[in-house]
Amino acid sequence: MCGIIGYIGKRNAVSVILEGLKRLEYRGYDSAGIAFFSDKGIEIRRCTGKIRELASMLESENPSSSTAIGHTRWATHGRPSEENAHPHRSNSIVLVHNGIIENYLDLKERMIEKGYEFKSETDTEVLCHLIEEYTKRYPFEQAVREALKEVKGSYALVIVKEDEPAKIVGARKDSPLVVGLGEGEFFLASDVPAFLNYSRNVIFLDDGEMAVLTYKGLMITEPDNTPARKDVKSVPWSLSMAEKGGYRHFMLKEIYEQPRAIGDTLRGRLYPERGAVNFDEFGFGIDELKKVKKIFIVACGTSYHAALTGKYMIEELARTPTEVDIASEFRYRRPLVKSGDLMIAITQSGETADTLAAQREAKRLGARILSICNVVGSTSSREADAVFYTHSGPEIGVASTKAFTAQIVALYLFAIGLGKTKGVISENISRELLKELLMLPGKVEKALAIDEDIRRIAEGFFKARGFLYLGRGINYPIALEGALKLKEISYIHAEGYPAGEMKHGPIALIDEELPVIVLAPMDNLHKKIISNIQEVKSRGGRVISITNDSDSEIFRTSDKCILVPNTNSYLTPVLMAIAVQLLAYYVGVLRGCDVDQPRNLAKSVTVE
Ligand code: M6R
Repeated sequence: MCGIIGYIGKRNAVSVILEGLKRLEYRGYDSAGIAFFSDKGIEIRRCTGKIRELASMLESENPSSSTAIGHTRWATHGRPSEENAHPHRSNSIVLVHNGIIENYLDLKERMIEKGYEFKSETDTEVLCHLIEEYTKRYPFEQAVREALKEVKGSYALVIVKEDEPAKIVGARKDSPLVVGLGEGEFFLASDVPAFLNYSRNVIFLDDGEMAVLTYKGLMITEPDNTPARKDVKSVPWSLSMAEKGGYRHFMLKEIYEQPRAIGDTLRGRLYPERGAVNFDEFGFGIDELKKVKKIFIVACGTSYHAALTGKYMIEELARTPTEVDIASEFRYRRPLVKSGDLMIAITQSGETADTLAAQREAKRLGARILSICNVVGSTSSREADAVFYTHSGPEIGVASTKAFTAQIVALYLFAIGLGKTKGVISENISRELLKELLMLPGKVEKALAIDEDIRRIAEGFFKARGFLYLGRGINYPIALEGALKLKEISYIHAEGYPAGEMKHGPIALIDEELPVIVLAPMDNLHKKIISNIQEVKSRGGRVISITNDSDSEIFRTSDKCILVPNTNSYLTPVLMAIAVQLLAYYVGVLRGCDVDQPRNLAKSVTVE
């Protein structure tokens, strides 16, 4: 989704904004722009395409300014074009916006009647005119406040005014906005990595709040204009965590970071000798958890696939009924949530609009909310009753990889802890399960050694027009995830299917053109999946299997077979995930795709 940054301070704001916009590229965008102050007033430069094109537009003039704002746009209203790119302007008011203005057509009509001329197809432009109109009666900040009273929809806004070059105003509703605090300088951005090289001290704005940044200081106010009491948070991420560190792509770097990300996610959260999970981290008391009768898990995309593995774990280890919903469906299906139920919202970014809406709906219905989230201070984490942070570090590649496996680990810990608390599993069993978890980072490290084999397999198959992924039980979600990863990164159509369901339809697709990826760990369904492989082979299909059993018959029946380390059945999805992530990555690279910023995709989907 769109990225936003504003800066005021001692540095050249133009360079800070360009650098910040580069760091926001990962969110996905199709055009970009910047506004800065010069002797002539506010100047705006915008273009379609990449930040480097925006930077080259400015190269010859080399402007300098102490206040500037910038934007990367992911088109919603109006195609990607220079006119639709932000910043937008109305006389003295210049702003950038992330979100959607729902009543923009009504407001637009009114503004046209008042004589304002619209130059873009965006919903955003109406905001400039509306605020400009209010500046005729009120000072800058108050004009913004009054204008926003009329606005329906979501926004994160960063606004400057031509005759007040030493001020930036920011406002948020349903779209993230964070202030970065430096010495004699302030940042305002949609996302912390935008200014991580200058500051790790941040204040997250809440809905309805406004921030006014000047050289002298920062003022944050509540919707009623009273000062807001805000905590400064220190973000535990370093700049190097948000850089490529020698890897060709963020996606590959993040795949390789998984042993560390998993290690960090479980650190301090278990007592292996007692077979216990540290539930303080989950933020609920044991007594409260014992009473939980039903669990709902909601998430989108890759996080939804993690949620599906969670259902297997929670129902088996804690014998607690668990429903998993795609967040955008949950919010509209009148779910039967009761007071005392628990909702787990899984979200890497903590800002996904559909997941937030589902979480809010469950809260309204009386459920307690646990957020499994990767971004400290994100909206999901702040609105939940409890948060379990996955410590994956910043995930920059649009395709989620390390956040996914860390989410599975979080769910595994939760299921064991709940199972033990409810007396479903014994101390001995939970000790064994946790012992295996402690070995997981090392096993993931070993699994990464399949990189070269997967690259060679990708070379043999990257021209295929479609792929089928098959899995069973807890690895069915990995079949879905493998297919999603491949679609996102390589633009090849792929489907994930429960292997036993193949004969009910998808078997018609099988021929020598269709590579079939089979997730076949050694578990209670191993024999069944071998039969599924034979069904594919007997129809001329080409099978690439991934297993953790070096003696398996699968080596004889499959065209290619990849071996990953052995682990218990609940953790096999993590090792299988490494294989499908690497396969998607290499196929994408071989097809010349932009694997870190795939077309049309946004890292964090902050609109419905
Ligand atoms: O930040 P979230 O985990 O809430 O994001 C959910 C999905 O948008 C995300 O997983 C998306 O599907 C990724 N592009 C997957 O690689």
